[in-house]
Amino acid sequence: MVLLKSLAGSLLFASLGSSFSILRARQNATGLNAAFKTHDKIYWGTCSDQALLQDTQNSAVIKANFGQLTPENSMKWAYIEPTQGTFSFTGSDALVNYAQENNLLVRGHTLVWHSQLASWVESITDADELTEVMKNHITKVMGQYKGQIYAWDVCNEILAEDGSLRDSVFSRVIGEDFVRIAFETAREADPDAKLYINDYNLDSADYAKTKGMVALVTKLLGEGVPIDGIGSQSHLSEYFPSSGVEAALTALASTGVEEVAMTELDIKGAAAQDYVNAANACLNVPACVGITSWGVSDKDSWLSSDTPLLFDSSYQPKEAYTAIMGVL
Ligand code: G3I
Repeated sequence: MVLLKSLAGSLLFASLGSSFSILRARQNATGLNAAFKTHDKIYWGTCSDQALLQDTQNSAVIKANFGQLTPENSMKWAYIEPTQGTFSFTGSDALVNYAQENNLLVRGHTLVWHSQLASWVESITDADELTEVMKNHITKVMGQYKGQIYAWDVCNEILAEDGSLRDSVFSRVIGEDFVRIAFETAREADPDAKLYINDYNLDSADYAKTKGMVALVTKLLGEGVPIDGIGSQSHLSEYFPSSGVEAALTALASTGVEEVAMTELDIKGAAAQDYVNAANACLNVPACVGITSWGVSDKDSWLSSDTPLLFDSSYQPKEAYTAIMGVL
């Protein structure tokens, strides 16, 4: 009797085990990233970093639904080169290793940004010195991951809302030429990585900043500056609604840049129709290669109280997730 019970138990366990693997395989085949890729796109990713990658529930959702990772903070200057010449790759190595173990693409974020910048860089006033510091930073950080990064946000948020160049230590001390120097240095450091200029509030074709981005990239491409892509962060809300995104991406792609991407998508309130509009915007613009959600669960979002993501605070898929999957 005992033997029979244990035999029946093992059979039941074996059969549950195999149904579980089949279920997992099905989830993987039909998760968000896999479904999005059936439409000739390269990825639907998310941002993360070491602590969240070690969270079992968070990690399970990433493996089932996302095909690309962006480090939310670990590659930013303040963390990766906090003092001159001292590089700290612990956090970013953890993310890149996780991505490789799980077959995920990586978007590097970010090399030249006025924010989360180390204070020692802010205090430089000599153009030659800052140029060398910037070139060294780009070369060392990209060198650490040479051949392992799909795309890099080389310059992040360099425009003001009126479309002109933003005031920053880079624009003030070096002048507009810092952009060319940054991209040329990046191309040399890792010739296989796609080089992006990335910014927010590029969600309406008529907005001055979008027009400024189109003008700047058109000009720089004409001058031979090696820019491969424009990243539109896509932090959407009532101020920049989802309805404008497709026309905006089309305008960005009209510069002749090789690709565009939605690099930090979140939507205040996460209405299903808004997420469908955002997904359709990328689907309908041939140059759009992918979408990165700026986080997995609402509880970990930088805009947590706006509940802007696809998974709720218990990691359950929200209505917006189901609606996108319906479209895909
Ligand atoms: O690491 C410190 C920790 O030591 C300290 O105890 C803690 C106390 O507040 O702060 C920690 O740093 C925080 C960091 O995230 C890591 O968690 C910073 O205060 C916090 O300001 C920082 O916020 C990040 C923000 O960029 C900074 O600008 C967000 O997580 C990140 O989602 C956000 O991402 C940016 C993109 O890079 C660029 N586009 C806009 C987007 C949203 O702001």
